[in-house]
Amino acid sequence: MAHLDAAPGLRLTGWGTAVPDRVVTNDELSLTLDTSDEWIRERSGIRERRVGGTAVTLGLAAARAALERAGVAAGALDAILLATTTPDRLIPASAPVLQEALGAQCAAMDLNAACSGFMYGLWVARGLLATGSRRVLLVGAEHLTRWLDWSDRTTAVLFGDGAGAVVVEATDPPGDLLGFDVGSDGSLVHLISCEHGGLIQMDGKETFRRAVRIMVDSAQRALKDADVAIEDLSLVVPHQANQRIIQAACERLGIPESRAVSVIDRYSNTSSASIPLALVDAFEAGRIAPGDLLLLTGFGAGMTWASAVLRWPG
Ligand code: ACO
Repeated sequence: MAHLDAAPGLRLTGWGTAVPDRVVTNDELSLTLDTSDEWIRERSGIRERRVGGTAVTLGLAAARAALERAGVAAGALDAILLATTTPDRLIPASAPVLQEALGAQCAAMDLNAACSGFMYGLWVARGLLATGSRRVLLVGAEHLTRWLDWSDRTTAVLFGDGAGAVVVEATDPPGDLLGFDVGSDGSLVHLISCEHGGLIQMDGKETFRRAVRIMVDSAQRALKDADVAIEDLSLVVPHQANQRIIQAACERLGIPESRAVSVIDRYSNTSSASIPLALVDAFEAGRIAPGDLLLLTGFGAGMTWASAVLRWPG
């Protein structure tokens, strides 16, 4: 990222997650839908999902955990970015509600890039650091189950609720964000949508087909930007939409699936929350060591996509 050589670097200094207590298993869904645990597991990798909370309540819990780990007081934040495609209301944004609840005095805004939201947030955070901010709280939080048609087996089984947050701080260049790729293709708006007053609709087959190609291309551009070879990566942290998408992307990237973090079995697709949920899960499982190179890569409705190569701090 030569164009940002003079700008401060970016470092993750804190992270946290939150999910609702309520677990809904595939078997429970099978009681009211013409589906089965076997079908859902085989086609998506999902075993269960969490249901409940809101973008604000889940985001707040994740944000508090991230701030605590970073040792950063809410009052020291320069900005709060809430990546969500399911804000608590249309107006106002949910980020100012988080700001007030945390006791922060700073800029706060929502950011909607669907399932790429957390990655887009990282990109915006990098820009904020380049223009003088020192500490940014980035939250990905979703209440997707509110917008599901519980009688539609093609979508109801795929999504869940949750949140993940990171504290991003300015550090001496070059910092830990080594490469990035971000983009969108609005000609694919029809693939996944939720109209005002409506519920989530998706062309799953076509989304699947596009997602693999988009994720692989974006990941390769980020690796090139970082000048990092695929063999040098410790882990891939992909958006959690379908285990078969993760499998296919790993195969095309030339990295064993065992090196891709997956939490889709427990949380299903949590959109903007899925990458931080997977990242923190890998850290807590002892799968990430200081200095490790990670590839974070996401895609979502729009379609949007974004990938980053990140060196784990330490
Ligand atoms: N249970 C049982 N049968 C089902 C279910 C279900 N829950 N859902 C669909 N089926 C049936 C279909 O009706 C179809 O039956 P038919 O052959 O009689 O018509 C059959 O199963 C096969 O359906 P397909 O759609 O071909 O199944 P596929 O293997 O493609 O899996 C899935 C569907 C899981 C949706 C997959 O296509 C997928 O994961 N797509 C990508 C989803 C995705 O990435 N979403 C990202 C969202 S990002 C964002 O921003 C929100």
